[in-house]
Amino acid sequence: MQPTPSCLFIEGGHKLKGEVVISGAKNAALPALAATILAPGEYRFSNVPWLIDVQTMLDLLCRLGAQYETTNTALLLDTSQAKDTVAPYDIVSRMRASVLVLGPLLARYGRARVALPGGCPIGKRPIDFHLKGLELMGAKIHQDHGYVMAKAPRRGLSGAEIIFDFPSVTATENLMMAATLARGRTIIRNAAKEPEIVALGEMLLKMGAKIEGLGTETLFIEGVKELSPTEVSIIPDRIEAGTYLMAPGITGGEVIVKNTNPSHLETVIATLREIGLEIEVQGDTIFSHRGRNLKPVKVRTAPYPGFPTDLQAQVMALLSTVKGTSVIIENVFENRFLHVEELRRLGAAITVEGRVAVIQGVKKLQAAPVKATDLRASASLVLAALGAEGVTEISEIHHLKRGYEALAEKFNKLGAKIWEAPCQHHS
Ligand code: EPZ
Repeated sequence: MQPTPSCLFIEGGHKLKGEVVISGAKNAALPALAATILAPGEYRFSNVPWLIDVQTMLDLLCRLGAQYETTNTALLLDTSQAKDTVAPYDIVSRMRASVLVLGPLLARYGRARVALPGGCPIGKRPIDFHLKGLELMGAKIHQDHGYVMAKAPRRGLSGAEIIFDFPSVTATENLMMAATLARGRTIIRNAAKEPEIVALGEMLLKMGAKIEGLGTETLFIEGVKELSPTEVSIIPDRIEAGTYLMAPGITGGEVIVKNTNPSHLETVIATLREIGLEIEVQGDTIFSHRGRNLKPVKVRTAPYPGFPTDLQAQVMALLSTVKGTSVIIENVFENRFLHVEELRRLGAAITVEGRVAVIQGVKKLQAAPVKATDLRASASLVLAALGAEGVTEISEIHHLKRGYEALAEKFNKLGAKIWEAPCQHHS
């Protein structure tokens, strides 16, 4: 008999008030952990978010021979014994970001066998930019029984000029890491500029890498003979912060978001102010409260510093109860509207044409059983439920635990009523 799965229950209608402390960024922690393959030794990470995806990356590094222990403030990781070069399907299929070990393995050991990640709900998400870039650096790559087999020349990877069709975040990270140990100079043009890439570059610089252009669309990397371990503090999660900043627009009240880097949230803050939230920045703290009347807006997602695709589902939840017609255009992924059907179940009035979603604000959403479809979509259902009439039941909540540390606890500390219990309406 299968145990009854657990669901998240959210009683809507409670005004939020109080402080929330933002955790380290998942999408900064994952590449930083992968970078430890580049140099054997002991690393110390602080401000690591305790998430399923971080655990999966640590499982992968252990499969490669690394060891780790955690203290109450740090993660100590030792890659001295790491020598395996296979990223197996059972791990990669759980988390596509496992592909981030490909570049480091190839650069350090000259070979790698990484399972192809397979499908993903929000889009095809191929890794052709990663593979093409590594081939330009001299790697021989072929596919074998669902695995990418990569081999560097005997003398190692060599620098190359790489131009991306689209500023891919993990492809930029993978190739920047590989280039640090390649012979000669690598140039990456149309590189992604996300803060998580700048943070990874700063970690590599501390390890002895030679990189210029961090934060711009052109990266110059001069390969070096070897790197050494370092200490890293993971930057705050701008997507988690943006999620909490939006909440008062749905519930009323005021949320004080602490441990943020407001410079990573400029477009998000500008959009929330345009909608009518009152946002005030003081150092690493951002105050957000609902203004008098909110107004509909047009939001276009784009690579950094544009509006982040990872906050698209959340802002859609916010706009669902803003009077008037809002438009959201999803320019990064081709199928990132899976949350629309679920928001509709809560009473939202949304129509989708390709990459364009049109939202007619309704007065109030009504609680209903809904299903989380992917990580950020699940956060949008939580936001919508906070303002809905009644108790909403959300199933498939493992998606949430992949990317949000202690979400229910943090919202309950703000006055929400969220609890986990066996599902009642979902089998
Ligand atoms: C990173 O994914 C993030 N993940 C995603 O966050 C985020 O949504 C995304 O960047 C965009 O910001 C991590 O950092 C671990 P991309 P990534 O390569 O690197 C196409 C979350 O919720 N593309 O920038 O996989 C791709 O299909 C996750 O935390 C290719 O065509 O995204 C997409 O349309 C979800 N070929 C576009 O580029 C490639 O080789 C942007 O993808 C690579 C990408």
